Amino acid sequence: MPAQEDFIPIATSRLIIDEFSASDFSRLREIAFNINHNADEHSTEGYCPFYTFQVDPQTPDRDLVIRQKVSEFLIKASNEKEQSPRSTYRMAVRLPDGKLIGNVTVDMLPINEDGKLIYGDLGYFIDPQYGTQGYATEAVRGLVHHFFKKYDKLDITAHPNNKFSRKLIERIGGKQVGFKEASHYGHGEPRMIFEVHKKDFYKSCAFYRQMPELLTVLVNRKRGNGKNV
Ligand SMILES: CC(C)(COP(=O)(O)OP(=O)(O)OC[C@H]1O[C@@H](n2cnc3c(N)ncnc32)[C@H](O)[C@@H]1OP(=O)(O)O)[C@@H](O)C(=O)NCCC(=O)NCCS
Repeated sequence: MPAQEDFIPIATSRLIIDEFSASDFSRLREIAFNINHNADEHSTEGYCPFYTFQVDPQTPDRDLVIRQKVSEFLIKASNEKEQSPRSTYRMAVRLPDGKLIGNVTVDMLPINEDGKLIYGDLGYFIDPQYGTQGYATEAVRGLVHHFFKKYDKLDITAHPNNKFSRKLIERIGGKQVGFKEASHYGHGEPRMIFEVHKKDFYKSCAFYRQMPELLTVLVNRKRGNGKNV
């Protein structure tokens, strides 16, 4: 079995970022329902559902289809843990009491898209019941900090209608560098293309640089891992 990277779990000031497990199914299903229902009600305000869980309201047996998508997501997360070397870090975002509230995913190995290397391909969602409190931004910062130990630039895309995702990208120092009418990573949908440069990322969170290191040490000690980073 491949060794778990020593930056997992990550602790930020309010969150723990660690692996998904099969026992997350029912809570993740709840989040996927919340995301879809939030999109039903708030799409005109710029809310887009996470494409992985997105199921059109007219779909017969919609809840069953959402449940299937949640299962597929957890199977992917489980398979990715076995990658060697590991590329995809599909992480659970939890409150300190362990409650699952979202996800942040980053690829630690570049992906080849039409001959161009894509770095990071960041993705994330937060339970709408825990939205607009900075949790998604905090989780993204916590994981991306480790990505930037290896790379200087991160690629990310957002649907043009996804106002909240665009705001998050800009909050972490991202700048738009292009637009694609139909992107492979957008599942055929249009995508605004952003880059986040390491220096802009750290400028956007001036005091953050040292914190995850310190907190990861503390969490590992508490869990008895004893591995200092
Ligand atoms: C994209 C998404 C994660 C953004 O969620 P969010 O709730 O806007 O993001 P955050 O949790 O970081 O909250 C940020 C808001 O909280 C506020 N906030 C409060 N405390 C904060 C803190 N400590 N740090 C940062 N922001 C804070 C910010 O001001 C911001 O509000 P504003 O945009 O009105 O200024 C969410 O809309 C979502 O899950 N969408 C569905 C999935 C999706 O589209 N994913 C992207 C495609 S992969």
